[in-house]
Amino acid sequence: AKVLVFASGRGSNFVNLVKQSKKFNYRVIALIVDNPEAPAIEAAKKLDIPYYVVMRQMDETKARNEEKIKSYLETIPFDYIALAGYMRILTSEFVKRYNKRVINIHPSLLPAFKGPSAIEDAFNYGVRVSGVTIHYIDEGIDTGEIIEQEIVYVDDDETLESFKRKIHELEHELYPKVIHRLIQKRR
Ligand code: GRF
Repeated sequence: AKVLVFASGRGSNFVNLVKQSKKFNYRVIALIVDNPEAPAIEAAKKLDIPYYVVMRQMDETKARNEEKIKSYLETIPFDYIALAGYMRILTSEFVKRYNKRVINIHPSLLPAFKGPSAIEDAFNYGVRVSGVTIHYIDEGIDTGEIIEQEIVYVDDDETLESFKRKIHELEHELYPKVIHRLIQKRR
């Protein structure tokens, strides 16, 4: 199966998805980034994965910008789009077109702690349990149908740093597995 990854930043999930791809029987065929400074681009170069930067110009509408992504997608057959720290909301048109083929990973137990600082927010709230969610994308932010969740306990001596590490480790373990399962189910 062919997987496209969308990222905006660090790209640790992207790198991990590439590294685990053989074991879990899929291929990461390209990386799409909206941010030309994203460290994920350097990672793609090193891993020899084609990447495509779709920058949004100042005077460009969201829809027009998405057109660029769509025309690119039409040139490459793919099975799934895996969002991995992609900081843009996709339009409802895009969501409908690729219904149930776009998935996202979020570092909390949704619907708790939506948004871009979920790990910090959960930790600062003082939760004793948090986790990772993988869900389909809809028009909202972190609201689509849940595919899988796993939990992480907050230890008594937990620091934000150690908590972040635990969450990211779980993300790296879970995302390739879930993609594998989705592919199996589709067969
Ligand atoms: C991850 O925590 C993911 O859950 C969230 O954004 C972060 C991306 O991290 N959506 P990375 O760029 O994959 O390292």
